Amino acid sequence: MKHLIAPSMLASDFGNLKSDIEMVNNSESDWFHLDVMDGVFVPNISFGIPVIKSISQYTSKPLDVHLMIVNPDIYINEFKKAGANILTVHYEACDHLHRTVQAVKEQDMKAGIAINPHTSAHLLTDVLKDINLVCIMSVNPGFGGQKFIENTYSKIATLKHLREHTKSNFLIEVDGGVNTQNAEKLIQCGADVLVAGNSVFKSKNPTETIKTLKHI
Ligand code: DX5
Ligand code: ZN
Repeated sequence: MKHLIAPSMLASDFGNLKSDIEMVNNSESDWFHLDVMDGVFVPNISFGIPVIKSISQYTSKPLDVHLMIVNPDIYINEFKKAGANILTVHYEACDHLHRTVQAVKEQDMKAGIAINPHTSAHLLTDVLKDINLVCIMSVNPGFGGQKFIENTYSKIATLKHLREHTKSNFLIEVDGGVNTQNAEKLIQCGADVLVAGNSVFKSKNPTETIKTLKHI
């Protein structure tokens, strides 16, 4: 499978959101990555359900919603109604992860689990067959524009091994500090989805940067 590109709208110009949405629609990207931060799970607040609902009126590609929030269970239905196609919760934020994953799938969304840089991929072994995506955080969640953590490469390899071992078929997504320099190695290691925020939106030509990332 050709890898997928998911530009992170956190790095877009919120004052001109619609034109950035159109840029992504018309680019070679595959998904929209939307980061929801609650100021509790992570030390930052981004945007929430009403903004996603508005964005979804103009998007022509799946919405990959990354929840960096505590108690995600109580909002699952709201994110579905707002237009989420893939809903990713954090391993570290869920006491009953298996139940949360089932609840996401019951709402007809793809279920993802994100793991922080300190969380071992092995901790997901018993739910890998139940999920559609693992999001490896390659920075500490909360902010765009941070430095990529090198340990990510071996984590991708570990997850790839676990996928074969458990006969599962989730996608491996990498989120944080992804750019045109490290993308090739990430894909070689086994990444299926690259999330890119600042490297796309702060580049001279975001459409071209997406194209470069897609054709690596
Ligand atoms: C970080 C977010 C990322 C972020 C990526 O907490 O989950 O999706 O927007 O931004 P860059 O690519 O700039 O690191
Ligand atoms: Zn994210």
